[in-house]
Amino acid sequence: MKVLALNGSSNKNGVTRHAIDLVGEELAKEGIGMDVIHVGAKPVAGCLDCRKCRTNGHHCVHNDIVNTIIDKLPEYDGLILGCAVHYMGIPGPFKSVMDRLLYATEHLEGWGPKPATAIAVCRRAGAINAVQQLGNYLNCSNLLTVNSQYWNIGFGWKPEEFLTQDAEGVQTMRVLGKNFAWIMKVLDATKDSIPRPTYEKRVRANFCR
Ligand SMILES: Cc1cc2nc3c(=O)[nH]c(=O)nc-3n(C[C@H](O)[C@H](O)[C@H](O)COP(=O)(O)O)c2cc1C
Repeated sequence: MKVLALNGSSNKNGVTRHAIDLVGEELAKEGIGMDVIHVGAKPVAGCLDCRKCRTNGHHCVHNDIVNTIIDKLPEYDGLILGCAVHYMGIPGPFKSVMDRLLYATEHLEGWGPKPATAIAVCRRAGAINAVQQLGNYLNCSNLLTVNSQYWNIGFGWKPEEFLTQDAEGVQTMRVLGKNFAWIMKVLDATKDSIPRPTYEKRVRANFCR
């Protein structure tokens, strides 16, 4: 089993990556692999709402990292979203990635239900906003949100600050990793005895009539 983690922070090896790795360490202890794709360092085009992804095999007209992620998604059994806080929310490039990823895969049969979670880190304020913002992507995509014993947030300007001074944040990530591994193993162990719900094509009622 393997999990995909998207690091939406500008820094490849910053606080976000260290928080994701704490989750990954717990997954590894249970024999679950994790690949991390860093999507935060380059500008990423936003969604044009051209709707071509609906007739284009679930691919975006901007042929970039988003299409790479779309192609890779079926290989994975779980998804972790992580990022730093930029002005009380998620960084711009990561928002562009997530908007397009979700819009293009909206009708991608078979991706869910799989476990997923969202992590946000900051220096001082805004991690709750960001983690809730990321949660919005999980809440509408047939994913099973996994939680820890506190909100999945960490504090630190640099990784060493987070790792040495935010004992609760470090523990939160460790517990999140344990919970994530456990739910993956339960789902795997029951995959034949308890069939997954069949995908239902979404009904779109654009407003209440
Ligand atoms: C453009 C920008 C805006 C930021 N805004 C906030 C903020 O609103 N609140 C906060 O606590 N930290 C803010 N920070 C600091 C980062 O969230 C913090 O240093 C974080 O740990 C960086 O994680 P990383 O190492 O994974 O990039 C901001 C940083 C940048 C570059």
